[in-house]
Amino acid sequence: MRYFIGNWKMFGVPKSINILNKINSFYLKDKHQKKYRVFITPPYTLLESYAKYFKKKKILIGSQNCYQKDIFSSNTAAISPYMIKSVGAKFTLVGHSDNRSEGDTDLMLKNKVSLALRNNLKVVYCIGENKIDKKNNKTFSVLKKQLSRVLDRKLNKKNIIIAYEPVWSIGTGKIPTKTELNKTIIYIKKVLKGIFKKKNISVLYGGSVDGNTVGVFKEIKEIDGFLIGGASKSSKKFIDIIKNYYR
Ligand code: PGA
Repeated sequence: MRYFIGNWKMFGVPKSINILNKINSFYLKDKHQKKYRVFITPPYTLLESYAKYFKKKKILIGSQNCYQKDIFSSNTAAISPYMIKSVGAKFTLVGHSDNRSEGDTDLMLKNKVSLALRNNLKVVYCIGENKIDKKNNKTFSVLKKQLSRVLDRKLNKKNIIIAYEPVWSIGTGKIPTKTELNKTIIYIKKVLKGIFKKKNISVLYGGSVDGNTVGVFKEIKEIDGFLIGGASKSSKKFIDIIKNYYR
């Protein structure tokens, strides 16, 4: 199974649902539809209405983040995994570099992952090295820490997806080389096997994925799908990624 996950970030108002309707229509007619799934993360403000609208359709609606405490608390503006689940969302991203750079620590991320899973949400856990880590040849050690400090064997691995997103690639148009990326994805899968003693956790790539760059990525068979930022805000650009991937 492949995943095409759109991360809308701070984008979207109620009528933006048109974008998803177009993606859904494409999906329904696509002869490759059995090979992949489409997930989208609208902002919190649209979570309930979109989740209801797409309940019986093929697009899965999820959240961009969740809080590290569950049920209800006195933290202003916080949204718990329980609250996310209660409006019909099916998954959440955790650990996106935008949130790590705003202060998410490993302990916070560990809580988020386990609470989201406990609420039966799928978790798309994001990891990735920054430009300095890369320059200092620290990519593998950074990724290993991000995985081993947050994930553990007792978690429900069936509901975990990993998104590898080099921070220096997000929104910049810069992408890793094929050799580099292939090695990194294989390394991540090796670390995951060490943690979970299982081989089959999906690992996605994210960072400047569009209709052109996907041509490079599709040659790397170990990549199980994509986390797509900028290009997910346009139905045409998002559909182009899927079309070019299966071309
Ligand atoms: P991008 O963002 O596709 O715009 O590089 C990816 C992300 O932040 O998830």
